[in-house]
Amino acid sequence: MHIAKRLAQVNPSATLAVSQKTAQMKAAGADVIDLSVGQPDFTTPKDIADAAIASINSGAASFYTAAAGLPALRQAIADHVATKTGYKYDPKQIVVTDGAKFALYGIFSAILDPGDGVLIPIPGWVSYVEQVRLAGGVPQAVKAANGFKVTVDDLDAVANAKTRAIVINSPQNPSGAIYTKQELTLIGNWAVRHDILIVADEIYSDLVYNGAECTSMLELDHSIAENTVLVGGVSKSYAMTGWRIGFIAGPKKLAQAMSTIVSHATGNPAAASQYAAIAAYTGDQKSVESMRQAFEERLNTIYPLLQAIPGFEFDSKPAGAFYLFPKVSGAVRALGYDSTDTFVSALLEDTGVAVVAGRAFGMPDHIRLSYAKSLEDLVEAVARINAFVTSSI
Ligand SMILES: Cc1ncc(COP(=O)(O)O)c(C=O)c1O
Repeated sequence: MHIAKRLAQVNPSATLAVSQKTAQMKAAGADVIDLSVGQPDFTTPKDIADAAIASINSGAASFYTAAAGLPALRQAIADHVATKTGYKYDPKQIVVTDGAKFALYGIFSAILDPGDGVLIPIPGWVSYVEQVRLAGGVPQAVKAANGFKVTVDDLDAVANAKTRAIVINSPQNPSGAIYTKQELTLIGNWAVRHDILIVADEIYSDLVYNGAECTSMLELDHSIAENTVLVGGVSKSYAMTGWRIGFIAGPKKLAQAMSTIVSHATGNPAAASQYAAIAAYTGDQKSVESMRQAFEERLNTIYPLLQAIPGFEFDSKPAGAFYLFPKVSGAVRALGYDSTDTFVSALLEDTGVAVVAGRAFGMPDHIRLSYAKSLEDLVEAVARINAFVTSSI
């Protein structure tokens, strides 16, 4: 059986691998608290689910839609983006995709010729690097010299004539860091100057805590907004990971290329999911706010508890998304493990708490914990981690 050579360099998703392991342990009766997952623990708000059910019952969801999405959904996304950022897209500039994940893969497929590069800030979400490779491009990892956010100096050190795009994910998975307006402006102007497309992954932009400010790339100078493709979706804000609806919004030429890719690769995303997404974007936004508040309470409760664990260090308190990304090399060393990966495996085996080793995000001294879990589970999980670390030291 011949498998394409480019696949040899592509790694399976590390976060999905942990989830599979915990699912197996749970099925075998183990008492597992899974903090490895990147999805809200809430179910989709009822008004959104009802819209999908209505589209099924009426028969509207029985048929293909336009590959780029229902016109009403593209309009709803354009209106939603305009309300949030002030930037107005023609619905033709919007393409609905099977999750933000396919939106990103579609962008890389649309813009990369073999050997072209994409700047990927480290730490960063696991799929960027692999998607660029899948699309035949070269991931150009840019390690943040300080903390979790890259600067123009960091980018200058890695960019070359082959660089086509830079991914900016704010709020960031895995650290919860948010780029300030000033930081984004510097990066945005740099990208415009070098004719490098900005891929703004703002999927967590509704999940911002404790009064932190979160600026969209689209709110900056027009030249920056026009050089940006926005990636968004309903997964995180509306507790809709299973529905698989994301989108791109960007320059017309790119939207046209994306429509072509989507039309041949996936066809339209499930019609019932699209009707649900229309309800999400046009309906009452109260549920988004109540879920945000729940995440905020969880963050504020467990952050100090994690800070108090010996050998766990935070640069700063996360401001968005629903992850914590402490440096744990102190604890790993004190307990005598040879790597964070073995520490994480032992933690799971001994305590049933699943987290993701930072290597998957490019920072092997860290672990990522998701707080998209009930407060009760989170407090119990942190108590187990604390007991694991302190009893063994
Ligand atoms: C940073 C980031 N971007 C994009 C996605 C993809 O989200 P989805 O495909 O569910 O819309 C995720 C999901 O974990 C993510 O963390």
